[in-house]
Amino acid sequence: MIQEGIPTMSGELIFRAENLGVTYQSSRGPTPALENFSTEMAKGEFVSILGPSGCGKSTLLKVAAGLLTPSSGVVELAGEPITGPRRDVGIVFQQPTLLKWQTVLDNVLLPIRTLGMDLEVGRARAHDLLRLVELENFERHYPHELSGGMQQRVGIARGLVHDPSLLLMDEPFAALDAMTRENMMIELQRIWMETRKSVIFITHSIPEAVFLSSRVLVLSHRPARILKDVTIDLPLPRTQETLGSARFAELCSELRAMFSQTKK
Ligand SMILES: Nc1ncnc2c1ncn2[C@@H]1O[C@H](COP(=O)(O)OP(=O)(O)OP(=O)(O)O)[C@@H](O)[C@H]1O
Ligand SMILES: [Mg+2]
Repeated sequence: MIQEGIPTMSGELIFRAENLGVTYQSSRGPTPALENFSTEMAKGEFVSILGPSGCGKSTLLKVAAGLLTPSSGVVELAGEPITGPRRDVGIVFQQPTLLKWQTVLDNVLLPIRTLGMDLEVGRARAHDLLRLVELENFERHYPHELSGGMQQRVGIARGLVHDPSLLLMDEPFAALDAMTRENMMIELQRIWMETRKSVIFITHSIPEAVFLSSRVLVLSHRPARILKDVTIDLPLPRTQETLGSARFAELCSELRAMFSQTKK
C-alpha cells in the first residue's frame, strides 16, 4: 500500500550503500563488522535499524556520518561519495554528550560554530528548534539543570540546527524511562513530519521502530546483512491509538519473529 505523505523508493536517493565492507583491525586479528552490505534510502524516509548487539549498527552509522572509512564498497550521500564528516548530516548520540559548561543555547549552536556557519542564522534556527522540542524557556540553563529527557531533546535540536538533510540517531532514547521514551517517540515523529528530514534510527525497541518508521531493516549477526526490509504502512500521524491497533500488533510480531531468529 502506498500512502500519501510516505516517501517511496522511487524518490530521490539520500543514502546508498553498495557492497559496503568494514573490517576492524586489532592485535587479535581482523573483525568484519559489515560485509557486502547494500541498501538504498529515499529522501524523507524514516528508516529504523534493528539488529542484535554487536552486529554492526553503530559501524554503519559511523560510515554514514563520515567518521569511519569503509574497507570496501560504495557509500553515497545524495549521489556523492562520503569521504568525511559533512555539514548535511546531523548526529544524535545515545548519550546527550552536552558540554557541561555551556548553556542549552550554546550547546545547540555547537555545529554552527564548528562548521563556521552564520551565527545569526544559526541562532534563529536554534530558537525555532528549542521551541519545537519545547525547551524555549530553558535556553539559558545549563545541562545539569535539565532532566535526562530534556537533555536528550537538546541533543536532537543540536543534531538538526545546521539543517542537515540526513539525521543519524544511535539509540537516542535508550537511557530514558518508559514514559519519557514514549513522549520522545511522539515528539520525534512530530519533528520528522514537520521538518521532513531523512532519518536513520537505531533502536532495540520493536514497537518504537514500528511506530516511527516508514521502513524497518532487520539485520543479522555480525557481519550484518539485511534479513528483512519491512515497509510500515500505518497511516500518519501515528497516535496513542496506533499503539493499540491490530495492524501495529501484527507488524510488531512479524518483526519480533524475524528478530528472534537473529538470536539463534
Ligand atoms: N573500534 C573498534 N575496533 C575493533 N572492533 C570494533 C570496533 N568498534 C566495533 N568493533 C566490533 O565491531 C562489531 C560491531 O560493532 P558495532 O558497535 O557496530 O555494533 P552494534 O550493532 O552497534 O552493537 P550494539 O547494539 O551493542 O550497540 C562488534 O563485534 C565490535 O566488537
Ligand atoms: Mg551500537
